[in-house]
Amino acid sequence: MCDETEASAALLRWYDGAARVLPWRVGPAERAAGQRPDPYRVWLSEVMLQQTTVAAVKGYFHRFTTRWPDVQALAGAQDAHVMAEWAGLGYYARARNLLACARQVAAMGAFPDTATALRALPGIGAYTAAAVAAIAFDRAETVVDGNVERVTARLFAEETPLPGAKPRLARLAARLTPRDRPGDFAQAMMDLGATVCTPRRPACATCPLAGFCAALAQGIAADLPRKTPKKPKPTRRGIAYVALRADGAPLVETRPPRGLLGGMPGFPGTDWVEDPAPAPPLSADWRLLDGTVRHSFTHFHLDLTVALARVPLGHLPERGAFRPGFDPSSLPTVMRKVWDHAAMDGLFRADGDA
Ligand code: ADE
Repeated sequence: MCDETEASAALLRWYDGAARVLPWRVGPAERAAGQRPDPYRVWLSEVMLQQTTVAAVKGYFHRFTTRWPDVQALAGAQDAHVMAEWAGLGYYARARNLLACARQVAAMGAFPDTATALRALPGIGAYTAAAVAAIAFDRAETVVDGNVERVTARLFAEETPLPGAKPRLARLAARLTPRDRPGDFAQAMMDLGATVCTPRRPACATCPLAGFCAALAQGIAADLPRKTPKKPKPTRRGIAYVALRADGAPLVETRPPRGLLGGMPGFPGTDWVEDPAPAPPLSADWRLLDGTVRHSFTHFHLDLTVALARVPLGHLPERGAFRPGFDPSSLPTVMRKVWDHAAMDGLFRADGDA
């Protein structure tokens, strides 16, 4: 059994020397000198980091904070501009909640400073509320993400598989959380999980918690956490229709506000089902391109066939609108793949026989 107080003290000592330098972070030295993190930047980074890795978030974080340096600025942004900057990060409902949250916080004047009050804001779940309360306001909240679950499962040699072990791991992690410096502690756990206590080959020889780690003592660190096998994802199919008008403007629609990719721009298409029925958005000489575009969502894989047509000026679509000067970087990833697939086939060839 590990001594929680000594283990968390050892982790904080390690963090004092090894903390990653991150654009939203106030490092341990600046913190000791009295600097406080900006809750806006902490909140924004935590919402972004739920989508993807630190490396991938850095560029998005820089663009967002350059364009909207504080929560008032973000609250005043146009929805479409925020959605376009979010494009590529995935889970677009989060971007809409991000904006709803910014507007509510701007109306309140500032971010609330407790996990309970943060939890009441749009798009802030238990994880984000705990992370912002701990990191921005040094509240003694326990922040549990995948990294923290892995570190905790190893430290206590918890063999119950995930996701069933989640509540137990959260209780164990809470026992480790110190009253002093809980914000640095939360970030130290995340950094340890990302750089030392890694999923496949943990660097136990350099780990500040090696002397406390039950899994290392039993020789099973790399095997934990155990996981209940996942059900394989089903594959759905669809057709995406890329219509290019003679002036180069593509036919783009805004997807319905609710549901997958809600509110994002995309190409009209069929439903995404096992056996889709064709549903072209206008009558034209549609040509099915070879190959498919593959994209994986949380609950299914998608195989999209791309249909391409060139249409004359003056053509009226049943869905969407022709958008001259359309910027493909505002597309969500799956639609960007559709665009790239169409472009590879010669979408931009001047000799198309429209
Ligand atoms: N992953 C998610 N949140 C993080 C944070 N605040 N620091 C480092 N990695 C993280």
